Amino acid sequence: MTERDFLTIDAVESAELIALLDRADALKRDRRTSRVLAGKTIAMIFEKPSTRTRISFEVAVAELGGTALALSSADLQLGRGETIEDTGRILSRYVHAVVVRTFEQDRLERLARSASVPVINALSDYAHPCQVLADLQTVRERLGRLARVKLAYVGDGNNVAHSLLLGCAKAGMHVAVASPAGYDPIPQVVGRAEQIAQGTGGAVTVTTEAVEAVRDADVVYTDVWASMGQEGEAEERRLIFAPYQLNEVLLARAKPEAFVLHCLPAHRGEEIAAEVLDGPRSAVWDQAENRLHTQKALLEWVMSE
Ligand code: CP
Ligand code: NVA
Repeated sequence: MTERDFLTIDAVESAELIALLDRADALKRDRRTSRVLAGKTIAMIFEKPSTRTRISFEVAVAELGGTALALSSADLQLGRGETIEDTGRILSRYVHAVVVRTFEQDRLERLARSASVPVINALSDYAHPCQVLADLQTVRERLGRLARVKLAYVGDGNNVAHSLLLGCAKAGMHVAVASPAGYDPIPQVVGRAEQIAQGTGGAVTVTTEAVEAVRDADVVYTDVWASMGQEGEAEERRLIFAPYQLNEVLLARAKPEAFVLHCLPAHRGEEIAAEVLDGPRSAVWDQAENRLHTQKALLEWVMSE
């Protein structure tokens, strides 16, 4: 497997991550500078809904001169039981890269093993690495640096939390995650983030105390309490996660100039108070825009091998 896959943020070294963000900044300044996908087709399989990821990838591919095929599993024989491996082999005969949003990470890995073109994780139950590229671009454009910036993530130890742990550690940041007991990020990811942080000057904190995570934070981040596929647990989770709501009281524990990120979609009044999401300290609309610029940089990176 020589092609460049992007299944987790660990696919890039720290220096490559910063180079990707630099390239995203350049593409943001001038959206029409690259035609790296001229004559190329990118397949996008969505086994879960998406607004930002799907649209930003479609626009990214178009602006880079290529053609995007947005496919739901219901449109494919995949939805009728064709294997993910056969799908990967077949797509590789037609297209130049595959972007996939799915459930188990194992499904993505199986697709990547069978495909001979790059495979990009557009969200799995385990990770959301494309999101974190945009998050880091947003932090850097607001603060002018990433090293030693403290980002507090409050809520479910989910796919977004996992990618933030690894991505922030790679960027030399202090990442602090606060989740209720039993909803914390998986230990292997925390261990890997700690290992990365040792080499970058970053730091990792995992706690059940939201106030501890947020103390002195430069950036406060949250995500939905019930991710896609967990709709049946939503009511139970609303009770368990209530103390972790990102509201004005919690935000007051961060630095006075701290700003707020959320990958979106948001549930106002659940994981985030409306006055915070819609308030002056919210950077979520820039963050969502940056999905486009970072994914263009990522598409250039995967095509460059
Ligand atoms: N943040 C994010 O991935 O949004 P979508 O689910 O709309 O793609
Ligand atoms: N954790 C959320 C992120 C949505 C972009 C989910 O997986 O549904």
